[in-house]
Amino acid sequence: MFHPVFRARRIRGKEIFRRMVRETSVSVNDLVYPMFSAFGSGIRKEVSSMPGIYQQSIEHIVAEAKEVQELGIPAVILFGIPETKDAVGSDAYSEKGIIQETIRAIKANVKDLAVITDVCMCEYTDHGHCGIIRDGDVDNDATIDLLAREALSHVRAGADMVAPSDMMDGRVGAIREILDKNSFSHIPIMSYAVKYASGYYGPFREAAESTPQFGDRRSYQMDPANRLEAIREAQADIDEGADIIMVKPGLPYLDIVRELRNHFKQPLAVYNVSGEYSMIKAAAANGWIDEERVIMETMLGFKRAGADIIITYHAKEVARWLMK
Ligand code: PBG
Ligand code: ZN
Repeated sequence: MFHPVFRARRIRGKEIFRRMVRETSVSVNDLVYPMFSAFGSGIRKEVSSMPGIYQQSIEHIVAEAKEVQELGIPAVILFGIPETKDAVGSDAYSEKGIIQETIRAIKANVKDLAVITDVCMCEYTDHGHCGIIRDGDVDNDATIDLLAREALSHVRAGADMVAPSDMMDGRVGAIREILDKNSFSHIPIMSYAVKYASGYYGPFREAAESTPQFGDRRSYQMDPANRLEAIREAQADIDEGADIIMVKPGLPYLDIVRELRNHFKQPLAVYNVSGEYSMIKAAAANGWIDEERVIMETMLGFKRAGADIIITYHAKEVARWLMK
């Protein structure tokens, strides 16, 4: 009979040994919870494709932000559904905009919770694109001026960190410059550095009411087939002053997370996007998977791939399971 020298099962055989050699862990400190703030009052409307996730008016956002803080989650990332949209996304950089009001309300009522804002135009433009349209396409340089104004107005309202998600070239530099000029050199930028044109954003566009009214986002978001381009995108954002770089979506792009982890020393975030959440929720609702087990395994996968920060709609349930 053959006797293997290497017997992995010696260590694997006892939970106490498995604990001792475990290489990766998930902590509540790794999590960021996305929230959708809607104009109005008394609104708390579940997103049909994202069970457990709501479009809510400010008083409900504040209540949930408190719950998030009490669970020990360090940060939320905010998306806005404004009262009105127009061609230039005016609400995005208005002092009285939906996000500006939401930031002030959270900051006034919830202590020890970092407020990160998504900086983009698509939630505020009537055409649903992430910038200003000229000749049927998004005009890069006109858009970055507005993104910089949007970021500044978020920070003036009290945002602790800004996260540009538009994928225009040069926007990190433009935002860094305007923040620095206005005495906000201490505010970090988490850049959606590597953001693919993905079908996995479908449920988010229902939640944020930001579906493009013509065409798609392929002229500014990345081609899913590209890996080397991800390194160039991340390098460009780091050179322009990004403090944290992000890969998005998460699960279909874990190779990219690992690639960036190996290349760069910056903190690395992954966005476990809406479609990833919806797929797990749908399978769980059908009894096809063990929900807690699959979600925790998914979180571990992000950490093992090299992510430091996980932006996820599962954040609250993960925080509760981690406390058990
Ligand atoms: C805005 C933005 C999107 C997401 C985050 N910021 C949507 C998009 O680019 O269409 C997607 C998040 C998700 O799917 O959970 N640009
Ligand atoms: Zn956008």
